[in-house]
Amino acid sequence: MKAAYLTGYGGSEVIRYGELPDPVLQPGHVVVEVRAAGVNPVEIAMRSGEFRKYQKYRFPHVMGLDIAGVVAEVGDGVTGFKAGDEVYAVLPGRKQGGYAQRVLVPAANLALKPSTLSHVEAASLPTVALTVWQAFHERAKLQRGEKILIQPGAGGIGTFAIQLARHMGAEVYASASARNQDFLKALGAQHPIDYAASVAGDSGPFDVVLDGLGGAAIAPSIRALKPKGRYVGLVRAADARAFRELGVPALFAWLAARRIRGYRQLARARDVEYHGVLTRPDGKQLTAIAGLIDKGIIKPFVARTYPLRDLGQAFAELEAGHVRGKIVIDISGV
Ligand SMILES: NC(=O)c1ccc[n+]([C@@H]2O[C@H](COP(=O)([O-])OP(=O)(O)OC[C@H]3O[C@@H](n4cnc5c(N)ncnc54)[C@H](OP(=O)(O)O)[C@@H]3O)[C@@H](O)[C@H]2O)c1
Repeated sequence: MKAAYLTGYGGSEVIRYGELPDPVLQPGHVVVEVRAAGVNPVEIAMRSGEFRKYQKYRFPHVMGLDIAGVVAEVGDGVTGFKAGDEVYAVLPGRKQGGYAQRVLVPAANLALKPSTLSHVEAASLPTVALTVWQAFHERAKLQRGEKILIQPGAGGIGTFAIQLARHMGAEVYASASARNQDFLKALGAQHPIDYAASVAGDSGPFDVVLDGLGGAAIAPSIRALKPKGRYVGLVRAADARAFRELGVPALFAWLAARRIRGYRQLARARDVEYHGVLTRPDGKQLTAIAGLIDKGIIKPFVARTYPLRDLGQAFAELEAGHVRGKIVIDISGV
């Protein structure tokens, strides 16, 4: 099969395009013919080796977390999927494999793709949709009428989060640059904020902050919450629960979450909840999300597609930091 793969950790110089062996079917898994694969910012850090302590790759390594495609082979013990089904999934973070013509997927990660979407559109969704779904339903427990700040508002996370928050009845504040203010409104944000002209936290206090900026934005976001408010961090903010839910043993999860101790203390002092999430693959949740998509409640936003051989260029555009919606690798024409 054709694949874009890494020859080692590093920058765009470690990406190659060429032939690799097909994946071998295993019990509990399906092999999917990949038609499109979504690109996520976290992959820049994965490529550079930032997570090698937790995720050691064997090279050549095929990255790619989000896929849409067609089921080619079904392993023993798998029910609910058959050859020819159109599906979408988040792949396991340790193995990945989406930037290739075929990939092995645990059946539990898989869902039928929204029938109203193309493969490219469907591949733009899995990670951002599950992240936001888990952040709102499992962590923030976002309620109708609550005031939420979503930052950044115009990227992969924001485009999905604004629409889901509105569907859940929240009053949405979202930040982006001046050129994206109308886009934020079109997504449904009642209160677009130009981050160059004002400080997002000044529009608070909020019931919930969904923070995809991280770093210097974490403490001000916690301070912008009402008492009993909920901070949900996405960027190097994971708490021990997030690691445990991905199968990391409790002691290691506690150790891995040490970096956020100061933020937890700040949150406790202000009587707010601190949550730091890591996306958990979940086929059942993707099925629920497909339902909202097919009812037209949430729409995907694909900024641009690249062919598989240009994966390095796709990463470069994402790294520049101003993509509106998502970048997707179109694998159908390889
Ligand atoms: N913890 C997890 O499991 C998890 C899961 C998914 C994502 N994440 C992380 O969440 C973060 C956001 O993800 P994403 O997919 O939304 O990223 P993204 O698509 O790359 O975000 C791009 C957007 O960021 C906006 N932006 C840049 N600087 C900004 C600022 N200072 N304030 C507000 N908006 C700003 C840009 O809008 P303008 O062009 O208008 O500036 C652009 O539209 C990433 O760091 C990602 O790795 C974490």
